[in-house]
Parts: sequence; structure tokens; C-alpha cells
Amino acid sequence: MYQFNRKEYEERMKWYQDARFGMFIHWGLYSIPARGEWVRSTEEMPEEEYLPFMKEFDARDYNPKQWAKEAKAAGMKYVVLTAKHHDGFCLFDSKYTDYKVTNTPAGRDLIKEYVEALREEGLKVGLYFTLLDWHHPDYPHYGDRIHPMRNHPECSNENRDFSRYIEYMYNQVEEVCTNYGKIDIMWFDFSYDDMRGEKWGATRLIDMVRRLQPGIIIDNRLEVSGEGRGSLYECDPTPYHGDFISPEQIIPPEGICDKEGNPMVWEACFTMNNNWGYCANDHYYKPASMLIKKLVECVSKGGNMILNVGPDAKGKFPKESSAILAEIGRWMDKNHDSIYGCAPAADIPKPDYGRITRNGNKYYVHIYENTLGPLPLIGFDKQDIVDVAEKIDTYETSIQPFEDCCTIFVAKHPVTKPNIDVIRRSEENLNEKIDELMKQAIETVEVIEVK
Ligand code: GLC
Repeated sequence: MYQFNRKEYEERMKWYQDARFGMFIHWGLYSIPARGEWVRSTEEMPEEEYLPFMKEFDARDYNPKQWAKEAKAAGMKYVVLTAKHHDGFCLFDSKYTDYKVTNTPAGRDLIKEYVEALREEGLKVGLYFTLLDWHHPDYPHYGDRIHPMRNHPECSNENRDFSRYIEYMYNQVEEVCTNYGKIDIMWFDFSYDDMRGEKWGATRLIDMVRRLQPGIIIDNRLEVSGEGRGSLYECDPTPYHGDFISPEQIIPPEGICDKEGNPMVWEACFTMNNNWGYCANDHYYKPASMLIKKLVECVSKGGNMILNVGPDAKGKFPKESSAILAEIGRWMDKNHDSIYGCAPAADIPKPDYGRITRNGNKYYVHIYENTLGPLPLIGFDKQDIVDVAEKIDTYETSIQPFEDCCTIFVAKHPVTKPNIDVIRRSEENLNEKIDELMKQAIETVEVIEVK
């Protein structure tokens, strides 16, 4: 039986914490009506109106290699795709249901192609699997808080046997963990009301998942939803504890520490517009410059960011999403050092002009707002600084004291483009070299376009 072990846990989380940036993909039958993945629930749509979408699902433009390429080019290290969302429709060939992609014009297992495409690009493979199921006859209908039929007394739960549903879900998760080789992340979604933990048969389920997929990373939603934390936070992990906290559409203001004050692993998930599943009318995309800052913010607070794309009915990424990914990629190409493997610069107070991340003895100072004149390096001791590599052309950098604080001149001009400076701080005392190093030319000359 699986039991939490701190050492093994830290070991398996290593790659994921270094990765920092991933892609979420929400795709399924709901992409056809194009009003978001909750369409059946929000519109209380009876299944007779929804099932016909199966006849239309042809995945004509489905090209997971292209998805993988775009994710990789954006600097993402892992991807999580909805194997099954709340509507219950499966993108994989499950032998426990007919409600699956092989019975649509697409006619093939799409998860198989997806995992292969990711591996080819060297990306880690994640699958999202819902705990809810609005299609299964044994899942509560009437009176459930979110089921599409919640307001229909004629859909009473009298003859529904929830244990049958749990068996069904268990079997499908077993399929997903058996038929596609190594799965790196399993993203379960989500617990609500009394539907949590053992109600989902969680101990048995997770024991099976971890047995079939050693080293797999699992989110915390068998215990909670996006707002909750779970038993690892309580410092009393259940056998189905999540490996990471999954705040939704919010960056925890101060990162997340467990009850005893130890930093925790977390991943903030974000939509690019305001929907996870494709929504034809939602053109309210966040600019790439903002999303880059949010990624930096997550890393500066010790978390990951997973950014969503909702492909259209045919399987194509919306063009706005592709453009945003490409722009993020241009930034990541130059600056990924300040993201991968980085952690909070916990010993340095957050400056008012931007955010700092840290990797060992390097500090990455992301400057969002220019100072007039030199940039104050509050929290750094001049004696400790051995090198400043400014990522901007033509300007000289020098370190100057200002009152008690050390400052750097980021430019000769008072107004410069936003940029990143890398400050390398030595653990040893390299006092003697400092003056010489201060005079050295700038190492890196990159300008980061951040609005
Ligand atoms: C929510 C929604 C869901 C989405 C998920 C992503 O819990 O139910 O549609 O998949 O968030 O975090």
C-alpha cells in the first residue's frame, strides 16, 4: 500500500519543480458547441442534445506533433491533456464505455498519438482525468450541485449505484495507466461537497496508479478543488495526498507553505482567455507580456504555471493562442535561465520595480518598471557580489553604494527598456576580486520585451 515518504517524494518532484512551465489542453466534444467545457452543466443541457456532437467529432485538424512543437517552442516542459472531462466523453479507447472517440468519425485513440508526439519532443506526458461524470448512469444526477440534470426530479438517484460508478472510474484510470507507457503526471479533477477522498475510492485508486506508474506526479484534487490545499499541507498526508497544490486562476499571494511553514510544491493553472474548453466568442486573451510576468511571479514564489489552450472542434489551436505561445517562446529562448531550476530569492525582499528568482548563487532580477538612475539592490551585500551580467546592450554596469544600499546602474540613460539583470553571488568571500570584476564588461546583452 502506498505511503508517503518524504525522501522519495522530494526525489520524484525534482524534475517537475525544475520545469516550472507546462501546457494544459482542454479538448473534447464540448469544443464543438464552442461555449466552454462546462456547457452541458451551465446550460443544463439534456444528453439528447449533446450526444449528436459525437457524429461531428472528426479531429480533422488534430496534429499532436504540432501541439507538442508549439508547447516546446514556448518553453514548456510538460503537457496535460484531458483524457476525459466532466461530460464523460473519452479521448481514449476505453473498453468500459461506448462513449469514446473510437465511435466518432475520428475513429481512433487520440491519446495514443498525443503521448507519442510529446515523447518525440522530449516533453513530459500528463493526462487530466475527471472524477465527475455527467454521462454515467450511476453518477448522482438530481440534487447534485453541478450535474446538468440537477434540477430534474425525474432524474432521481434511486436506482443509481455509486459503487458501480467508482468501479468504472477505477477501471478507466487503470486503462490509462496501463496502455500508454510512462505517464509523468496525472491531473485528477475535482472534489466538492461530500464528493472527496474515500468517496472516490481514493486509497485504492492511488495505490493502483502509483503501482502501475512509479514516479508519477499526482495533483491534490482527490482531496480538494482549486481552492483547497489537502493533507500534505496539514502535514498529515493521506495515502491519496496530492503531490502538488493546484490553485486555479490565482497566484498564491505569498507562495504556499505547509502548516509547519515548509515551502510546498504548487502549480497555478490559468486560461489564456476566460475558458478552458474552446469558446468561439471569447476573444479576451491575456497579452503574452502579462503571462510572462505571471510565470516569473509563480517562480519567484516557488510555484509552477500551467497555461491552457482550448483547441477548436477540429483540434486546431486558436490562432490567438498560437501567437501568444510564440511570443512567450521568444522571451523564453533568451531568458529561460531565470525560470528553469529557479526558486524564490527568499533572502531578498521583493523590489518595487520587479521580481527576483534565484538559482543557486545566481539571482535573476526581472525589471518591470524602470528606476530613474541606478537600480537599488536592497538585500544584497556589495561584499558578496562577484558579477553583474546585464542583459541589455551597450550600457556599462557598475555597482555603487547609495546610503546603506548597494545599487547598479542599469543604463547610462535614465529610461531604459525593461530587462533582466543576472547577479551572481558567491558563497565564498571573493572580496579581493570585487573591484576588478566591477570594472568588467557586461556579459550578456539581451533586451526582453515586456510591456
Ligand atoms: C475546474 C473545472 C474544469 C477545468 C479545471 C482546470 O475545476 O471544472 O473545467 O478543467 O478547473 O483546473
